[in-house]
Amino acid sequence: MGSKNVVLTSFVLFLTLVTLALIYSLYAVPRVQIIIIQTQDGAFKEQNDGIRYQLNEKTGKQEELKATKEEYEKKKTVQSKSQCAVVNDDHKFDCYPETSIATKEKCEARGCCWQVVQTQTKGLNGKVTGVPFCYYPKDFPGYRTGLKATTPTGFTVALSRNTTGFYPDDVMNLVMDVKYETEYRLRIRIYDPKNARYEVPLDTPKVTKAAPIQRYSVIVSNTGDAFNFAVTRKMLEPGPPVVLFNTSGAAPLIFADQFIQLSTFLPTKSLYGLGEHRGSLLHSMDWRRLTTWNRDQAPHDADTGTNLYGHHPFYLMMEDAGRSHGFFLLNSNAKETALQPDPALTWRTIGGVLDLYMFMGPSPSEVVQQYTEVIGRSFMPPYWSLGFHLCKFGYHSVNETMAVVKRMQEAKIPQDTQWNDIDYMDEFKDFTTGKSKFGDQAGMVNTLHSMGMHYVMIVDPGIGNKKSSSPYPPYDVGTKMDIWIKDSKGVPLVGRVWPGDVVFPDFTNPKAYDYWTQMTKAFHDQVQFDGMWIDMNELSNFYDGSSTGCPGNKYDNPPYVPAVLGGHLNSRTICSSAQQNFSLTYNVHDLYGFTETMATYQALKTTRAKRPFIISRSTFAGQGHYGGHWSGDNFARYEDMALSIPEMLNMNMFGISMIGADICGFHDDTTEQLCQRWQQLGAFYPFSRNHNDLGKKPQDPAVFSDAMKNSTRTALSVRYSLLPYLYTLFHKSNAMGETVARPLFFEFPEDTNTYIIDDQFLWGSALMITPVLTKDTTALNTYFPACAWYDFYTGLKITGSGSRIKVNAPMSQINLYVRGGNILPMVEPAMTTTESRKNNFRLLVALNETGQANGGLFWDDGETIGTHDSGVFNMIMFSAGKNFVSSEVMKAGYTGEKMTLDKLTVYGMLVTPKSVTVNGKGAQFQYNSPVKTLTVSIPLVDLLKPFSVKWM
Ligand SMILES: *[C@@H]1O[C@H](CO)[C@@H](O)[C@H](O)[C@H]1NC(C)=O
Ligand SMILES: *[C@@H]1O[C@H](CO)[C@@H](O)[C@H](O)[C@H]1NC(C)=O
Ligand SMILES: *[C@@H]1O[C@H](CO)[C@@H](O)[C@H](O)[C@H]1NC(C)=O
Ligand SMILES: *[C@@H]1O[C@H](CO)[C@@H](O)[C@H](O)[C@H]1NC(C)=O
Ligand SMILES: *[C@@H]1O[C@H](CO)[C@@H](O)[C@H](O)[C@H]1NC(C)=O
Repeated sequence: MGSKNVVLTSFVLFLTLVTLALIYSLYAVPRVQIIIIQTQDGAFKEQNDGIRYQLNEKTGKQEELKATKEEYEKKKTVQSKSQCAVVNDDHKFDCYPETSIATKEKCEARGCCWQVVQTQTKGLNGKVTGVPFCYYPKDFPGYRTGLKATTPTGFTVALSRNTTGFYPDDVMNLVMDVKYETEYRLRIRIYDPKNARYEVPLDTPKVTKAAPIQRYSVIVSNTGDAFNFAVTRKMLEPGPPVVLFNTSGAAPLIFADQFIQLSTFLPTKSLYGLGEHRGSLLHSMDWRRLTTWNRDQAPHDADTGTNLYGHHPFYLMMEDAGRSHGFFLLNSNAKETALQPDPALTWRTIGGVLDLYMFMGPSPSEVVQQYTEVIGRSFMPPYWSLGFHLCKFGYHSVNETMAVVKRMQEAKIPQDTQWNDIDYMDEFKDFTTGKSKFGDQAGMVNTLHSMGMHYVMIVDPGIGNKKSSSPYPPYDVGTKMDIWIKDSKGVPLVGRVWPGDVVFPDFTNPKAYDYWTQMTKAFHDQVQFDGMWIDMNELSNFYDGSSTGCPGNKYDNPPYVPAVLGGHLNSRTICSSAQQNFSLTYNVHDLYGFTETMATYQALKTTRAKRPFIISRSTFAGQGHYGGHWSGDNFARYEDMALSIPEMLNMNMFGISMIGADICGFHDDTTEQLCQRWQQLGAFYPFSRNHNDLGKKPQDPAVFSDAMKNSTRTALSVRYSLLPYLYTLFHKSNAMGETVARPLFFEFPEDTNTYIIDDQFLWGSALMITPVLTKDTTALNTYFPACAWYDFYTGLKITGSGSRIKVNAPMSQINLYVRGGNILPMVEPAMTTTESRKNNFRLLVALNETGQANGGLFWDDGETIGTHDSGVFNMIMFSAGKNFVSSEVMKAGYTGEKMTLDKLTVYGMLVTPKSVTVNGKGAQFQYNSPVKTLTVSIPLVDLLKPFSVKWM
């Protein structure tokens, strides 16, 4: 539930026209350089000094309005100033990033250079992309480097400028504080030493002493020279250092009150991250702009740079030789990241300070570990939340909801958690249950619990403020506690969402934690739900700004607005001038979902005294420490299914391990084939939920044909059998910051072929998932990195050589491959995790080329908070060698449930075993010589004691 797709039709129309116009401009018109813009009357025309064209609607052709090509060429005067001479267009840094069209006059008024070049295109968010016509000259006046001084944590540099730039209120004097926080982590803060500015209230590590060894160097220009700085990687091996960041020659540093710009050249084009945006995993550096300002916006396929639900100013870059580094800009203001082919990157943010971190890796996995050390490791999810979740907007009643659960059971398709969208509420009001209309929600939840299942429902931040005869505590108590977001005059700001007019809790106010806990607890006293789904927290608002608009001050209408959808900051959200306890909405807007998640975490912890489970639509850096995310209101299209993979992989890099997309699509009616393939892929989302919109055909797997049900049952049964492995990955994510779902290049960083792959992915290091993502497809060209792989289902070996191999991809199952060298802990699957936790464990041993493998299992009761810290868990390590598999019990702190092993399968067993023993006693086994797999029936071994299986 959420954003309705109102503007899409006009987007599509716009896109079609732009495309037509572009095609025409490329082929039918002499190659002159034009920007095509849409005029008031809907026609498209070029807007530049030069030839003007207009679309003649009768003929469908573009007609020249004035000037001939010759006149145009004459007018096109290239700046002769040598400071404007740029050999390579890719070096040009945009001096006029505004959405309004740049002209020569406006550009030169900024002291910049103007040169009309190749065709540019205008994106849906209004941004012109391509080589900028208006760019910075080499000698653009800016900050100069002042005195440097060493500090206990590194050094500081004074920066100053003596002329103002073209945005109001330059901060003339700055301090750059360089902190050697750890061997691998560098922090650089550039701020106003005189006036405290807004800074993100994220609890990051406090460092008081410089790390004794650093894997990086920071080089700042000499005192008295134009300011620039570079960060290099110190190499252990001989050779020059690798330059990771270099601002010299890039766009100048600008630090005005409401416009901050930092620009750098990059070592390579292998750039990942920068969320939340829709698109391929590997960013294109071809003049892209990624806008960030959280918004209730269904991700659509047309423009990947538009702002979506979340804000993650982090990138990971692959350098040469398989090394990687990370960069995090700790800043929550509206911003954009401009990428250009040089390669170079420019941050533009409209507030706060420049507080940046760099992580030296050198493996991609280590980069994420170093990043999550700063923002917080992923939360440890309850075990049940790893099961399959089912939801739909439009289960109008308990009966309807339970009818779906029943048909899932009858189809024998595993399901752990049933969800409800806003249907359950009384007039869509939070913390109410619409008993008469919806039925007995509390009774339903008790029934689900008795079936070993769980229940999650939606909660939106908007609290209905309508006067009514019966008291509505969520509004009355919140008003009394004075925790609503206020408008610029200090009056609670009135927005509009599903219940009608609403006010919004201010989660930057510590009192709101108590409020939210009280409300959560009061509702939980009625309905014993298990987790919360927090939606609409971008903050979504059906009014632009508020019921009375916005005052339109410098926060509502800042001098520079990144290319946000809707054109202004207040579009579909609250006024930027609205006041929150910590700061203006202008500053903390993008923290709304994150702060709500933190408050919800505390509320659930207090209420249930068990591990909280929260899925939030809006996120900020650090979200993963408290909850998960789903990719929002996607569409039932193959493209959306495919793009869910880069979203999932990026979120894992952002430290959000619990992530998935609405399986089978939220908007539009799905088709059986699409849904079948999506259920197969979705069985391997860390967060696996099928959900769709009101008025759309039911798409729970049980409504489809037997073949579809079979395939979904198979995929989910495989998931359920692998949950001990998945749970162990979540533990590693929680304890060490490893990713759960990861791109191939995380495991094969030296294989540059993997850098672009986002149609395949891995669970941990051991399991490769290769879904079908296109219609009518039953064969795949699968990329196999160079190592031993085994077909998960049969054990058939595939020797990877770093190339694509054509494999069959039948409709009935998703292709999965186990990487040689790994031991996967598994369990006999069941219809719920409650049941499967009672079943016996199994081990899948996939030997590598030298006949070895290892793996581990983390286990606890699956719901107690902090078991790792309190030691109430088990950790068992497994290893396999030439003729054995054995275990070592590292920790046996949880004895609440039996842990029994009943089966062991070995893939890649080259010699035929004559006999097999388990703990010295003969055991039954089967050897499949064509595929070289060994299956051993284990006479119920206790996993909390070391065991060994040997063969001769
Ligand atoms: C400003 O700084 C530049 C560079 O240091 C210098 O050349 C110029 O004279 C200064 N202008 C003023 C007005 O101080
Ligand atoms: C940064 O770039 C400038 C301009 O290309 C170059 O002169 C300088 O050497 C670079 N810095 C480092 C540390 O390589
Ligand atoms: C749900 O079903 C029960 C039993 O079939 C029926 O008595 C009840 O009225 C139904 N409730 C709703 C809200 O439809
Ligand atoms: C579904 O699976 C069952 C059991 O595996 C099998 O007997 C049946 O033929 C399958 N049905 C279809 C339509 O694939
Ligand atoms: C096989 O695995 C062992 C143990 O993890 C490792 O030491 C060895 O290098 C691996 N061999 C190959 C060829 O990957």
